[in-house]
Amino acid sequence: IEAALVDGPLKGKRVLVTSGPTHEPIDPVRYIANRSSGAQGTAIARALSALGAEVVFVTGPADVPPPNGVQVVRIETAQQMLDAVQSAVPVDAAVFAAAVADWRVAKESASKMKKDKGGIPKLDFAENPDILATISQLQEGRPALVVGFAAETDDVVENAAAKRQRKGCDWIVANDVSAGTGIMGGAENDITLITNEGAEDWPRMAKDQVAARLADRIAKALA
Ligand code: CTP
Ligand code: CA
Repeated sequence: IEAALVDGPLKGKRVLVTSGPTHEPIDPVRYIANRSSGAQGTAIARALSALGAEVVFVTGPADVPPPNGVQVVRIETAQQMLDAVQSAVPVDAAVFAAAVADWRVAKESASKMKKDKGGIPKLDFAENPDILATISQLQEGRPALVVGFAAETDDVVENAAAKRQRKGCDWIVANDVSAGTGIMGGAENDITLITNEGAEDWPRMAKDQVAARLADRIAKALA
């Protein structure tokens, strides 16, 4: 379906957004997941689209439906997300809001694991590719603006600033996902935006408002 592009400051710009959790299979009926609802990434894609961007939305199995008017690419695993992202570039900007599983089960079982065969299983893990770092460090065709997220529970700003340096992205949206903050899976977010100019603490607000404000900043950065 042709996206209904609106007139706005991002008209003519192509933007990639990753969102949601990934599912890493154990066997045909079981997987490893995380608590991401996809709400923040979905809100960001919607806000960018509302400013006129052509949005490629690469999403894991989220709780919330994708926005209208964006190009939706549904994936399950981190490896599939990387493949989809690599197919989507070149883009003018990329926002990596997905909660990508850091590890996958090294050997997915082709058949259902049974209780009465082999006892309690031990799972071996392998590290997933870092999608944000891969795109941030592209030698050719790197997006002009790469925005990462940093989900932290301790030393939020310090860890997020180090993450920004390590991965090579331009901005990092840092949030405290400690139990009790209600951020993971909730309707609000409390973020610090880290750029090359330093750390900006935003007040706690609805995820939709965080998205609108971030989209506005992205439009200004790309102008
Ligand atoms: N990310 C990614 N690919 C991965 C892991 C993370 O693209 N395999 C992205 C996320 O979408 C987010 C950023 O990297 O934009 C930071 O994710 P986070 O989980 O906070 O950082 P990690 O580097 O995985 O470090 P850790 O989980 O150990 O804190
Ligand atoms: Ca991680």
